[in-house]
Amino acid sequence: MCGIIGIVGHEDVAERLLDGLKRLEYRGYDSAGIATVHNNAIERRRASGKLGNLANVLETEPLSGAIGIAHTRWATHGGPTINNAHPHATDKVAVVHNGIIENFKPLREALIARGRAFTSETDTEVVAHLISEKVEAGADPVEAVRDVLPQLRGAFALAILFRDWPDLLIGARLGSPLVVGVGDGETYLGSDALALASLTQRIIYLEEGDWVVCSREEVQIFDQANQPVERAIIQSGVDGELISKGNHRHYMIKEIYEQPIVVAQTLRSYLQRIDDTLTLPIPDFDLSAIRRVTIVACGTSFYAGMIARYWFEQFARVPVDLDVASEFRYRAPVIEPGGLALFISQSGETADTLAALRHARKEGQKIAVVVNVPTSSMAREADLLLPTYAGPEIGVASTKAFTCQLAVLAALAANLARAKGRLTPEDEHAVVKHLSEAPAALNAALAYEDTIKGVAADVAMARGVLYLGRGTDYPLALEGALKLKEISYIHAEGYAAGEMKHGPIALIDENVPVIVIAPSGRLFEKTVSNMQEVQARGGKVVLISDYDGIQEAGSGCLATITMPKVHPLIAPLVYSVPVQLLAYHVAVTKGTDVDQPRNLAKSVTVE
Ligand code: F6R
Repeated sequence: MCGIIGIVGHEDVAERLLDGLKRLEYRGYDSAGIATVHNNAIERRRASGKLGNLANVLETEPLSGAIGIAHTRWATHGGPTINNAHPHATDKVAVVHNGIIENFKPLREALIARGRAFTSETDTEVVAHLISEKVEAGADPVEAVRDVLPQLRGAFALAILFRDWPDLLIGARLGSPLVVGVGDGETYLGSDALALASLTQRIIYLEEGDWVVCSREEVQIFDQANQPVERAIIQSGVDGELISKGNHRHYMIKEIYEQPIVVAQTLRSYLQRIDDTLTLPIPDFDLSAIRRVTIVACGTSFYAGMIARYWFEQFARVPVDLDVASEFRYRAPVIEPGGLALFISQSGETADTLAALRHARKEGQKIAVVVNVPTSSMAREADLLLPTYAGPEIGVASTKAFTCQLAVLAALAANLARAKGRLTPEDEHAVVKHLSEAPAALNAALAYEDTIKGVAADVAMARGVLYLGRGTDYPLALEGALKLKEISYIHAEGYAAGEMKHGPIALIDENVPVIVIAPSGRLFEKTVSNMQEVQARGGKVVLISDYDGIQEAGSGCLATITMPKVHPLIAPLVYSVPVQLLAYHVAVTKGTDVDQPRNLAKSVTVE
């Protein structure tokens, strides 16, 4: 998603702004730009495409100025052209913006009627004009921004600079995150703490509706009612090293390999190894009265929720509703007060999930949030905050955040079962033991990378790919298909294996390989029957199973991938690894941009 950086400094800022934008590349973008104030003028450099293009522009036309704002844009209103790239500016004001100004059309029409000329198709340009109008009418920047903000509907994080006040930067947030960085005689604005990691670790997280006036030495924050407020400075702890690729070729493969460590790190907060019992970060949160759980999330996080539904129902015997966040609010869900609404999100900022969370709160739900960014909006709005400790996930395709979510959700399901009197102390010890085995099993799964690389060469030639699984392997099939399509651009679908014969089997031929996820166990035979239906029609099967499963059903497959034999509770974590590695190696074989696949953004802060 779009990224913002602003600096009020005491020496030229363009180079540092460009460096900051590089740290935001992972969010996904399709154009970029920088504006500074220099010699009583706002100067801009913008480029479509990758940051290298902007760097080239800056090389031929360098930018001076000790104050500046910069932006990576993920196109919403208008294509990724230079004219639509931020910053948007008049001769007096320049603006960068994340989010969407929903009422931009009437605002734009009114501005045009008042004689203002627009140069882009974006919603953002109205903000530059509205503030400019006020400044031209004699308002100072603080008055101008204060008067314009209430006119804007939708979600925004804004950074604004002014030609005639070259030591002043104003920021505002509503719905999209914005942080303030406090430096030595410098102040910064950023769309997240990562953006500012090389500039400062001293971060102020703005609250919903806050706006901030930054000079070099001073930061003044106002709330939505324009009252001055104090917000704490927090040591961000985001270290530049965490966002480097190390020796790996891509962030995605680095993050796949981090899973044993980050899952172990995450489980530490949920398991007490001294007496093999379960715990929660808020131990006295009462789960015993929960009669229903509503799980809401998007994309990969949704698939984690779908796996968790099996666990909640199986262990705790609590009914579960499950929905993608973009549908949840709009289908008028029947939610009984007193339930637990559970939101799952890597970023904690996904606009649809956040809106669903607020809807659930209005409906009287207790709000639980499984989230990887502890300072995110969702984390701050949770009654029960359940952090994952995956560390910054930079690759656009989610990997380590997913397995950490699964670890937390398994622990939560078992905690709920205990609170409901459905988990004996022996069961509890067993759950702790199985979950504790996950990091080693993930390590063992990673050892099969070379085999998977071989399979990837075949899959890369495919016209389409089907993924099949039953039980918790069904959501994993969906996740496998999502991973493959987002980074390799091969069309892929996940199906419940038993559904195959109800339609998708018509797709089977030698150009549509079928990836079957089937650990040996309760549902193995049934899945194998579906697999054989595929093989009987000339379909090529890649079977992912354990040694026993492969011995029993592996002959006649195009390829087999052997996983360690693990308890069913941790199988979804362990089987995530081959699914991720397969997508990764297919994408590498095809030569796509693995970490920043086309059209995608890391954190989707627009609905
Ligand atoms: C897929 C992927 C996305 C995200 C989705 C939700 O690899 O990363 O589908 O899972 O956009 O994002 P979060 O978890 O940040 O709410």
